Amino acid sequence: MKGVIFDLDGVIVDTAKFHFLAWKKLANDLGFDFTELQNEELKGVSRVRSLEKILKWGNTSLSEDEFKEKMAAKNDHYLSYITNLTSKDILPGVSRIIDFLTEQNIPISLGSASKNARPILKKTGLMDKFHAIVDGNDVSKAKPDPEVFIIAAEKIGVAKENCLVFEDSVAGVQAANIAGMTSIGIGEKDVLHEADHIFNSFEEIEIDFIKNLLTT
Ligand code: BG6
Ligand code: MG
Repeated sequence: MKGVIFDLDGVIVDTAKFHFLAWKKLANDLGFDFTELQNEELKGVSRVRSLEKILKWGNTSLSEDEFKEKMAAKNDHYLSYITNLTSKDILPGVSRIIDFLTEQNIPISLGSASKNARPILKKTGLMDKFHAIVDGNDVSKAKPDPEVFIIAAEKIGVAKENCLVFEDSVAGVQAANIAGMTSIGIGEKDVLHEADHIFNSFEEIEIDFIKNLLTT
């Protein structure tokens, strides 16, 4: 039996841009900046690990309390962007694939680093489509560690090598590859070249392509 694991931010919803804006403001408040290219290294990475990376880029260190404050402030700022998220914010082409998988009785799992995953799935009306949800509250190791995908596969009872993973981040593609799953990158070919298959968006994915992966 095959199963499908979806990342959330930047795959199902366009929330990756809000993480970027919130981290950028945090860095700017501390007196430095980082580029969109550097931001690719933050995608898929946990909140704690992201702040550690950003502070390193800015040659800045914080006390433990300041670190916690900054993490909370970043999350508050991020939450202000996603308050009004609805099903209209599901990225184009995503629902078509999810509906096809549902019709075919293929188990679907979420594998996200975010601790905000459940509220986002609720707001977009997708909660019931998933047979299992594994998010930042369930894992101790950040992508590219494969932990999140391994748990996601276990929860739907599908062997690792029979899982397809949709990912928009380099760390996530690496995590799927390390887990021995089939990685499908959603984004730029230059960035996600380690993925087994790459598409600019879900709109480019033909149902036959998915059918093929599910039957071979
Ligand atoms: C990932 C995002 O899905 O979740 C990262 O790609 C984000 O940008 C990480 O930092 C943690 O998310 P959150 O919502 O728990 O801060
Ligand atoms: Mg992502």
